[in-house]
Amino acid sequence: MKDALGAVQSVLVLGGASEIGVAIAAELAGRRRATVVLAGRHPEALDAAASQVLAAGAGRVETLPFDAEDTDSHEAFADRAWSLAGDFDVVVLAFGVLGDQAAAEAGGDSAVRIARTNYVGAMSISLVASRKLRAQGHGTLVVLSSVAGERVRRANFVYGSTKAGIDGFAQGLGDSLAGSGARVLIVRPGFVTGRMTAGMDPAPMATTPGAVAEATASAIAAGREVVWVPGALRYVFAAFRHLPRPLWRRLPV
Ligand SMILES: NC(=O)c1ccc[n+]([C@@H]2O[C@H](COP(=O)([O-])OP(=O)(O)OC[C@H]3O[C@@H](n4cnc5c(N)ncnc54)[C@H](OP(=O)(O)O)[C@@H]3O)[C@@H](O)[C@H]2O)c1
Repeated sequence: MKDALGAVQSVLVLGGASEIGVAIAAELAGRRRATVVLAGRHPEALDAAASQVLAAGAGRVETLPFDAEDTDSHEAFADRAWSLAGDFDVVVLAFGVLGDQAAAEAGGDSAVRIARTNYVGAMSISLVASRKLRAQGHGTLVVLSSVAGERVRRANFVYGSTKAGIDGFAQGLGDSLAGSGARVLIVRPGFVTGRMTAGMDPAPMATTPGAVAEATASAIAAGREVVWVPGALRYVFAAFRHLPRPLWRRLPV
């Protein structure tokens, strides 16, 4: 439970080696020597992430196996995670795959794998985690959405559609938790320079995992429900959202 000053004392990161997830854990944990649980598929990557979070000032870091696609395991996983920490002030949904749009359009199971991770897996574990937060009577579920879901682009409509789906789901989940003490924070970053976007030309207003982490920590502290990173993208995408389709198709986005 947050301390008397509102500082976060326990954090669960799903997709525990994600650059943005680790940056958020480091940002939150260093403030109060918090307990952090990093959950993901690759133990070596989680160990490296754990070292980073400890170096940032966390009091204790544990790692757990977690696969977003294995939805049958989510209930048991959550029981294990909660038994390690008692409760969580913050749960971060940081896993995700960008995938390859051309491969997804070409056939095979590539598009379905992207949806299974970014939408089905995220929805499954969000429901499980939100039941735990509701039972605690406190805690914030941080959902890493994206501007890609705000107006889905032809260039990455498979990924974008999964983000549109999970963003809408998270909005409704937040509404369902109103009054319970638990809440949802939707984070909508633009292009974040890092592993997921390696080799791509940075989009205008590109940001960093550290900036996303700072904005997320401030939004949690302020009890906000949505944060755009950088904030100006909110206005850019409000305009994009309402552009007539023939015009939208001609934009080099
Ligand atoms: N980078 C950007 O430009 C950007 C912009 C907007 C939103 N976002 C969103 O922000 C979140 C974090 O992105 P990031 O930049 O930190 O990317 P990242 O460093 O590539 O991290 C993504 C993480 O997801 C994990 N993952 C993938 N599939 C998984 C599965 N089935 N089960 C469990 N973990 C799985 C990966 O772990 P493995 O090692 O197991 O693959 C990896 O640690 C994602 O949801 C992403 O869509 C990113």
